[in-house]
Amino acid sequence: MNKLRILGITFFTAAVASVISSCGDNKEPGLEFARNMYDPIAYNYDSPNKNFANGQTAQIPPAGTAPVGYDKVMDDYPNTIEGYLAASANLRNPVARTTETLEQGKTLYLHMCSHCHGKTGQGDGSIIKLEKFPPPPSYSTGNSSRGGAMKDLTDGKIFHTITYGLNLMGPHRTQLSPTERWKIVMYVHELQKVQ
Ligand code: HEC
Repeated sequence: MNKLRILGITFFTAAVASVISSCGDNKEPGLEFARNMYDPIAYNYDSPNKNFANGQTAQIPPAGTAPVGYDKVMDDYPNTIEGYLAASANLRNPVARTTETLEQGKTLYLHMCSHCHGKTGQGDGSIIKLEKFPPPPSYSTGNSSRGGAMKDLTDGKIFHTITYGLNLMGPHRTQLSPTERWKIVMYVHELQKVQ
């Protein structure tokens, strides 16, 4: 027998032996690595919990509580033209206008909107300059696709648009808290005055 054959038979025997030995009723998991990763100290949402009367970890929130980031606009002003017009009629910016809040609105606008709308709101942001995206209308001289001049857009209309988006503009509900959106609305009003 040549060496290669002996090596081949040895390898085959080892392979068969390992396959056979892995069968059977032996449920022993073998060496467990970092066992504490399988058994976390904290409760999981779905794990039983004897600290609560109903024995569950996940409890129903008490009546009247609101989840973090809850946004009343979602309930009262849906993403429809009626919701947009109702938001325009009823919503007023609840954030007081101060040098500080306006400055915060400007920073948020520059981060979240200016790449499309442009630093001064003229619809000439950096991605528009690539000529792959149609320019949004200017806040001061353009017209809204929903009717009326952009410079006349109200608090509610701008807030509704940031929340739900409009056509090519995506919604910003999950990226911006209601307060952040209102600060941006404040700054968009400044850009509506740009000559
Ligand atoms: C991806 C590019 C993009 C981003 C980012 C973007 N917009 Fe727009 N926006 C548009 C386009 C395009 C339109 C025009 C949509 C239409 O009328 O079909 C528009 C329209 C609007 C309008 C007019 C709505 C109306 O009623 O006619 C407002 C107000 C507005 N955007 C505000 C914002 C603000 C504030 C931000 C940042 C939070 C923002 N947008 C982010 C692209 C963008």
